[in-house]
Amino acid sequence: PVIYVITPTHTRPTQKADLTQLGNTLRQVPNLHWIVVEDADFKSPLVAKFLLNLRISYTHLNVPKPDYCKSGCVARGSEQRNLGLDWLRRNRGPLDSGVVYFGDDDNTYDLEVFEEMRYTKHVSVWPVGLIGSRRYERPLVRDGRVVSWYTRYPGRRFCTDMAGFAVNLNLILANPEARFNLKGAKAGMQESDFLSKITKLEYLEPRANNCTKVLVWHTRTEKASLHEHVTENVDIEV
Ligand code: UGA
Ligand code: MN
Repeated sequence: PVIYVITPTHTRPTQKADLTQLGNTLRQVPNLHWIVVEDADFKSPLVAKFLLNLRISYTHLNVPKPDYCKSGCVARGSEQRNLGLDWLRRNRGPLDSGVVYFGDDDNTYDLEVFEEMRYTKHVSVWPVGLIGSRRYERPLVRDGRVVSWYTRYPGRRFCTDMAGFAVNLNLILANPEARFNLKGAKAGMQESDFLSKITKLEYLEPRANNCTKVLVWHTRTEKASLHEHVTENVDIEV
């Protein structure tokens, strides 16, 4: 099966550094197609050039966040994830075998997490490190089934971050209404709301040794603080 990684990305000083780290990871994963969706009115030359040079299979898309999100939104990246899902629904069919993963551009991914997700029959889940004010958040497994969650923020049906699950491509295609809600979305509920539309707790497939191994971390890149009142008058690629 092909792993489809959907990555929303937006312009900021650390973007190319983050994309470089993620690209260096993904280029080592066999049979992977990277769907990169820019939060922008136009595709940027920076991302276009970056993807071309990476030499892996990819699709470059763009869609700006809706106007009501311009001053900040509780669902960063979700308009972009929805476009990635639309692309899959238009360009892939029931005969394609694959798995869909939402990989944000600033997380840290062990190569093993991709092999853990590759044979997802329905929806697979695993722990995510450095999230929700804890060292990790994870599904709790009993007799091979997910029964609850270790989390600081319960009160969600699925207490997982975007980086903690993958979905079989056919389940995505069979549920065309499954999208991320931006309007009226409550902070921290995107993942749970999305998963509620396509699955139930008892169907989840625990991975990473019954969810006892952290293979992905919700790292966040420090915002670059730039002091450039005077800029160099030369053409330089940053
Ligand atoms: C957390 C979750 O891990 C995200 O999956 C979730 O989308 C986000 O919160 C949220 O609910 O808003 P966090 O590290 O706080 O992630 O968010 P970012 O990494 O800043 O953004 C998530 C993704 O969206 C990134 O790939 C980022 O490049 C992209 N993004 C961010 C945009 O496309 N546009 C923006 O304006 C901001
Ligand atoms: Mn992030």
